[in-house]
Amino acid sequence: MRGLRKIKPYTPGEQPKRKRMIKINTNENAYLPSPKVLAALKAFDGNDLRLYSSLTNDTLISALAENLKVPASKITTGNGSDDVLALAFQSFFNTDDPIIFPDLTYGFYSVWCDLFRIPYQEVPLNQAFEFDFAAIPEKVGGIVLANPNAPTGIFKSLSEIERLLEKYSDVVVIVDEAYIAFGGKSAVPLLEKYDNLYITRTFSKDAALAGLRVGYGLGNEKLTSVIQAVKNAYNPYAVDLIAEALATAAVKDVAYYQQINQEIANVRDWFIDELAALGFSTLASQTNFVLTTHQNASAQELFEGLKAKDIYVRFFPNQERLRDFLRISIGKKEEMQEVLRVLQEILTR
Ligand SMILES: Cc1ncc(COP(=O)(O)O)c(C=O)c1O
Repeated sequence: MRGLRKIKPYTPGEQPKRKRMIKINTNENAYLPSPKVLAALKAFDGNDLRLYSSLTNDTLISALAENLKVPASKITTGNGSDDVLALAFQSFFNTDDPIIFPDLTYGFYSVWCDLFRIPYQEVPLNQAFEFDFAAIPEKVGGIVLANPNAPTGIFKSLSEIERLLEKYSDVVVIVDEAYIAFGGKSAVPLLEKYDNLYITRTFSKDAALAGLRVGYGLGNEKLTSVIQAVKNAYNPYAVDLIAEALATAAVKDVAYYQQINQEIANVRDWFIDELAALGFSTLASQTNFVLTTHQNASAQELFEGLKAKDIYVRFFPNQERLRDFLRISIGKKEEMQEVLRVLQEILTR
């Protein structure tokens, strides 16, 4: 048949359905959503579902505006940050110059470029797995960076981001802050200074709500009006009524989330030290996952050994530079103790 689209889709981590497993392969939060979120779910009146959800998500956006100290006019919500990122790619990258992102980053960026026919160029991360901004060509159609990056976990300082925003002031720079709550410093205060900055955020990781599918974007009013026009040309009711109510409750429970995410950061730092004691080298992470490699054991062998014990981590056999690494999300301390025990068992076989 003529006219059918060929596209290579994004490959997400597995979602196995086992009763007893340690699932640390897709960077979900180890903890439950806030009790306030669960209470909002119980209190939700199902009769309200007869009506369409809000076009403007005012309730959620005003809670976010208050929390982040950003005017509501700079915020756009979406069905997960994947939705907001996809809208941002379509809204901001419409030149013939390639947009730039690292060779090792969130796998969806290249998929969207193919889907939306956006030219792109991947800049190789350096030997230390860092994004060297000096390697970015002079003329680009835009720049996308996850900060901290995934799957490396490495955070880039705001002063470097500022220099990037200044140098490439004629195109949009998207900063994907999916993992910002685990140790990095948000670029949100830079929104006042830079018109070309667009930030995306999600409730999936730090708010323990990956299944709810809510994300949002932050940019000046010009960028926001473009992205909202594209959103309204496509799927205006992207955030449903239940999602808006629950995400709003999450925004209002800052204390709970600060506590669980600090605990995850503490477990991460402890886990990296414990991995080192087993002979692993691990990149410095500011996220809820680590990227690690062992000199004497292949990632494949470790991945399979863990899976045989119902421990699911992420292995990237098709990406040459990552073939020797495992990406391990940070679970609760008891889970990570079990992971270390099984790793030790595999290494001493
Ligand atoms: C760097 C990065 N950005 C964005 C996302 C998308 O998250 P969501 O669509 O759940 O908000 C992910 C998910 O794994 C991610 O790793």
